[in-house]
Amino acid sequence: MKGLLLAGGRGTRLRPITHTRAKQLVPVANTPILFYGIAHMAEAGITDVGVIVGETADEVRAAVGDGSRWGVDVTYLPQDEPLGLAHCIRVAAPFLADDDFVMYLGDNLLEHGLAGLVQGAARDEARGLRPAARILLCPVDDPQRFGVAELGPGGDVVRIVEKPSDPPSDLAVTGAYLFTEAVHDAVAAIVPSERGELEVADALQWLIDRGRGVAHEVLSGWWLDTGKKDSLLEANRRVLATLTPRCEGTVDAASRLDGCVVVGPGAEVVGSRVQGPVILGPGARVVDSRVGPSVAVGPGVLIEASTVEDSVLLDRVHLRGVPRLVESLIGPDSEVLRTGRTPRATRLLLGDDASVELP
Ligand code: TTP
Repeated sequence: MKGLLLAGGRGTRLRPITHTRAKQLVPVANTPILFYGIAHMAEAGITDVGVIVGETADEVRAAVGDGSRWGVDVTYLPQDEPLGLAHCIRVAAPFLADDDFVMYLGDNLLEHGLAGLVQGAARDEARGLRPAARILLCPVDDPQRFGVAELGPGGDVVRIVEKPSDPPSDLAVTGAYLFTEAVHDAVAAIVPSERGELEVADALQWLIDRGRGVAHEVLSGWWLDTGKKDSLLEANRRVLATLTPRCEGTVDAASRLDGCVVVGPGAEVVGSRVQGPVILGPGARVVDSRVGPSVAVGPGVLIEASTVEDSVLLDRVHLRGVPRLVESLIGPDSEVLRTGRTPRATRLLLGDDASVELP
């Protein structure tokens, strides 16, 4: 079994952060999203992992390296243009050869990883069954927003509908798929959709229509597509809640930590209250402030005389005198400073696609 992780694409929905970095490297609880996917591959026993890369290839290579950190062997597979998820399978065909493989979207996060998918396939195989594909479905409240699976009486997937106004079920198709070599015929046969992409839903439908069998597993844990700010913050909340408290930095006597707080190496808490779950990255400083719950503070961040809740602050962000910052995602080296100057005015230096809400 091989693995195929998709780390190309454009990441338009996470701009402006993705103007300067790959969306799969945006951190959740201070760890790039993509790293969770690689760890899940390793946990599922997959050691041969192809990584699809696009225009952010250099950054992804620098962060992931050869995969030895996770005990996997990484092969980079450049995709010239983001022409769709099924196009990624075309690009990866020489690497995949005729092996079965798990395909995983590099910006998705699954609470319980990929083990369920791989075990489901092993269970079928023991019963002499070998469906062409196996997908992971997640019950959702708002199926209209997703690709939705319709199941037949035997539990096989009979149809996949994109963003249906009248959903045939509440089962959304998540970003994890297991394919046999049969999928290569499907991706060779399909044509680009209206938005100009080769769609994985079309490849699955092609297999279904030819009776090649698409099986499914229903997820027990949560699944998040972190491609937008709100879902990224939700992923951050959920992952922070699973951390174990640790202190490798310093906390002065005037400070108080409650709940699960991870204080990274060299991080410092001075005269502050930190309400977990919170992670403070290496060298971060929190001075005369209130931080948490659900805040990921990146390496080298400085928070002074401020209150921050439910936010992700990337490397070296500087906050000073900010009365209450909530539900925010702030890119590296950004500053949010209260100057105290009068008359009151707001001065901004913002990149493309930035979004600021003023009271
Ligand atoms: P999407 O989130 O569907 O697409 P995107 O990355 O272009 O994002 P946006 O809609 O915000 O512009 O992609 C899911 C994952 O697959 C993501 O990790 C990027 C990756 N991907 C590729 O590697 N190649 C592709 O051709 C596409 C479409 C996506």
